[in-house]
Amino acid sequence: MAVPYSRTVGALSAAAVALVVLSACARTDSPASPSDKDTGKVTVACGATEEWCTAMTAAFTRKTGIKAEYVRLSSGEAVARIQAGKANPEFDVWHGGPADGYAAAVAQQLLENYVSPNAAAIPDRYKDPAGSWTGVYVGLLGFCSNTKILAEKHVAVPQSWQDLLNPALKRDIGIAHPSTSGTAYTAMWTQVALHHGDQDAALGYMKQLHPNVLQYSKSGAAPAQQAARGEVGVGVIFSHDCVAAQEQGFKDLTVSFPAEGTGYEVGGVALVKGAHNPVSAREYIDWALTAEAQEIGPAAKAYQAPTNPTAKVSDKTADLSKVKVIDYDVDAAGKAKKDLTKRFDTEVASAPKA
Ligand code: F6P
Repeated sequence: MAVPYSRTVGALSAAAVALVVLSACARTDSPASPSDKDTGKVTVACGATEEWCTAMTAAFTRKTGIKAEYVRLSSGEAVARIQAGKANPEFDVWHGGPADGYAAAVAQQLLENYVSPNAAAIPDRYKDPAGSWTGVYVGLLGFCSNTKILAEKHVAVPQSWQDLLNPALKRDIGIAHPSTSGTAYTAMWTQVALHHGDQDAALGYMKQLHPNVLQYSKSGAAPAQQAARGEVGVGVIFSHDCVAAQEQGFKDLTVSFPAEGTGYEVGGVALVKGAHNPVSAREYIDWALTAEAQEIGPAAKAYQAPTNPTAKVSDKTADLSKVKVIDYDVDAAGKAKKDLTKRFDTEVASAPKA
């Protein structure tokens, strides 16, 4: 039976609308839509070094003309600030900082999925398939030792997590607080992994380490400076932060990695839920995943490995294939973060030191 022309068009239009609606429902990302409000600027919660954050936001503005501002925040601070601004978000994008912090934010419904077209270039192990976060760099946890200080104490450069428990290192270790610092949480989750998922045993190790810790700093990279100034013999930090301190002229610093295996971070980028500038934010994320953006790191003394396989790698970047790493389960670490950091605070950080 012939179908009248107008009905055919009507049926086709309805089918087209249904298709659009269906495909929109099926997408896990949030593409720009004409209804998106945007003032043509982007505010970034930035989780890496000040120098990296300044270089990244400036390069983005140069490339796109979109104004970009940032606030440097450690991982736990970023989640707290994004949570506090849930009703009226302060930030559009979160850039930098270990992915388990992003997974913790997902558990609090603070991020919006966005699968950037540029995420296709990033290996699967460095991104959340739903697009809640996508990796921009990889960093290895390590020890940053001041060889002069250790020599004075007749202590060898530590080569294992067990070596850090040496009583000769009393108050001579710098590590951040895992509630604020993504670096320190990486160290703590590394203990969970090394103890086959046993969180009590991981806390047990942190309790043993406690008398050797001088103080728990807010930011993860601070122990590099403590070691550089000789305030501690060893900092537990991401190795690239030690390399950056060496570059500042602190030649007594040396990097080592624990023989049992070490943790690593995948630094992320994500769209903040309810962002006021979602169009600019998505453009920022697209850009952050390019080789061009990821090659900025070394110019800002940031030597994490890029996640984009086509980005040039600095010769100062640690060779990930030469270091024994643990199996780091970002989602499990993120889900456990709230409880585990609370337990660290009450059971470890507040315990008196002998
Ligand atoms: O200093 C840079 C850096 O080590 C990043 O590689 C990392 O994502 C971030 O700092 C972690 O910072 P924090 O431990 O303060 O959360």
